[in-house]
Amino acid sequence: MSEHERVDEERGPKPDPMSRSRFLNILLGTGAGGLAAAVIYPVGRYIVPPEAPEAAANSVVLSLKPADVPPNTGQIFKFGAKPGILVRTPGGELRAFSAVCTHLDCTVQYRDDLSHIWCACHNGHFDLSGRNIAGPPPSPLVQFDVFEREDAIVVSRKS
Ligand code: FES
Repeated sequence: MSEHERVDEERGPKPDPMSRSRFLNILLGTGAGGLAAAVIYPVGRYIVPPEAPEAAANSVVLSLKPADVPPNTGQIFKFGAKPGILVRTPGGELRAFSAVCTHLDCTVQYRDDLSHIWCACHNGHFDLSGRNIAGPPPSPLVQFDVFEREDAIVVSRKS
């Protein structure tokens, strides 16, 4: 028996280098995969948020009496998850629209000095029929139906 053989015998059996490196590869591979998933998943969820269930409001009862809305005024109300605007024209007619500007979704407001609806974000103007008359809004506001009751005002989507 040579000197090398005797030394190897004292150290015990040689470990299989292939199985050790394979184990390390698997360990590192799953660790890297787990890290990538831990980073990519939340980033992906942030970039593509889940669809929020739209509050399916087809009508809303406002706790306002018709007399609470004087001529040439407007009030924001909640229509489902989005704002609406209730307008009493200078002539006394009650109208309601989506208050979401058709340009970049800012909330519009009523300007009694102009007697029409205005968007402060980029100076968009809408007439009392909801038509876009000036500024960047590309299309009219969505108009709702309005029903006046003695004790309330009911706003609903047009059918
Ligand atoms: S968001 Fe209304 S004018 Fe731009």
